[in-house]
Amino acid sequence: MLSGAVFAPFVTVSPTTAAGILNTSNQDNDVFSFGIASGDPSDSGVIIWTRINPEYIQNPQTDDLHLVFWPLNQKENSKAIKINADEIKRENDFTVRINLDGMMDENQFYHYQFEYGQRSSIIGRCRTLPASTTTLEQLKLAVLTCQDFTTGYYNAFSHLADEAVDFVVHMGDFIYEYSQYEGFEDSTLPGRKLTFPSGQKLATTLEDFRHAYKTYRSDKQLQKAMAQHTWILSTDDHDCADNCYWNYEEDTLGLPSHDSRHQLDAQALMDIKLSSQKAWFEYVPTRVDINEDASHPHDYLTIYRNFKFGQLAEIFMTDSRTYRSEPSCDSKDLNDGSQCMDIPDPKRTMLGDRQRNWLIDGINTSDSHWKIWGNQTLVAKFGLTGILREYQINKDAWDGFPEERKTIARAIKDNGTNNFVTLTGDLHTSIVTYSKIEYTNDGIFYPNGDLDNLVVQNL
Ligand SMILES: [Fe+2]
Repeated sequence: MLSGAVFAPFVTVSPTTAAGILNTSNQDNDVFSFGIASGDPSDSGVIIWTRINPEYIQNPQTDDLHLVFWPLNQKENSKAIKINADEIKRENDFTVRINLDGMMDENQFYHYQFEYGQRSSIIGRCRTLPASTTTLEQLKLAVLTCQDFTTGYYNAFSHLADEAVDFVVHMGDFIYEYSQYEGFEDSTLPGRKLTFPSGQKLATTLEDFRHAYKTYRSDKQLQKAMAQHTWILSTDDHDCADNCYWNYEEDTLGLPSHDSRHQLDAQALMDIKLSSQKAWFEYVPTRVDINEDASHPHDYLTIYRNFKFGQLAEIFMTDSRTYRSEPSCDSKDLNDGSQCMDIPDPKRTMLGDRQRNWLIDGINTSDSHWKIWGNQTLVAKFGLTGILREYQINKDAWDGFPEERKTIARAIKDNGTNNFVTLTGDLHTSIVTYSKIEYTNDGIFYPNGDLDNLVVQNL
């Protein structure tokens, strides 16, 4: 696991007894109003998440939070821990993350349940990783991305909750930064309205971003899927801003001109990025840590990290927005292949030097059979035919960063690394193709990739 974090704001826990707690007849979804969740498995634990509804917190705050967990069908082997009342903090918006590392067996499903003030949560289910040397016969991942709350319903999450998958991998866009999709302001679906506390159409403050997460996580079908599986999450642009990047020249968040926030000053833009990071950190179950002393987003939160599924597979989750260079043209021209011909600039990066080297080293030194890149935007060249041919360059995806794409592919090819697979989000389209080091302009299908490895572009 990546260990770049310098501060560990997990709650401190102490063992307690399971006896006398968890009166399941008293389950109360109002106390745990955004559900329970697990994420970022290790081979000896997971991160467990919940939030206590502040309306149920006494003044003075006296109730401790208890978490009980047990191997599936072995309730008699329950373990319990106590989270002290003063660990449920307003500065974390009353969210709680508990690191159970060292308390669970490898490659094992567990059940878990919270109790707070005589009220119990629903029972959740989580799973640990196999040990790194374990031989695993198969691995079933659910791959998700782009869950816009305002333009649809989450029926798929209800089905996902019932699926027999090992883990859920989310490529980003857990929230969208707008209250309504542009052009669809008058077509709000029943129950899917999102209004930011600031009154703005785009999330601007920490409270706006927190409100977005609360709105999304209020969905019962999403709650069901998050309670039933252990999640591994990354972020994409909409977790902060559409087509965002890092403005290295002014050292602040870069926004395209269609984003009304782009005219804010550098510090205000920096604050938007920091707010989006903090809200994501508070509301999804991850092992990453915020450095509260840092004022720069690159120091504040580092989310790229890897997970090893025994000898069968290893996944490297990257962050393609925090360190990415300014695009070669403004977003209004992003799909216009006739413009912005400075694309091959070798200095343009989507990952940044440090993350790219981490990815390449990780892929090339992994001893797992499958090496998986958990990535946000289309890696293969995107093209259309006929009258749509002019739209064949998607500069927001890896077509806008061809030199860095080539560097990664070349390093993997030259190392002789086999069984390299890429998972991708973003396009809301199912595409399966091969990786190449160089892509030509003569079409969109590549039956024989230079890497001879499959790239799966998802959803
Ligand atoms: Fe998306």
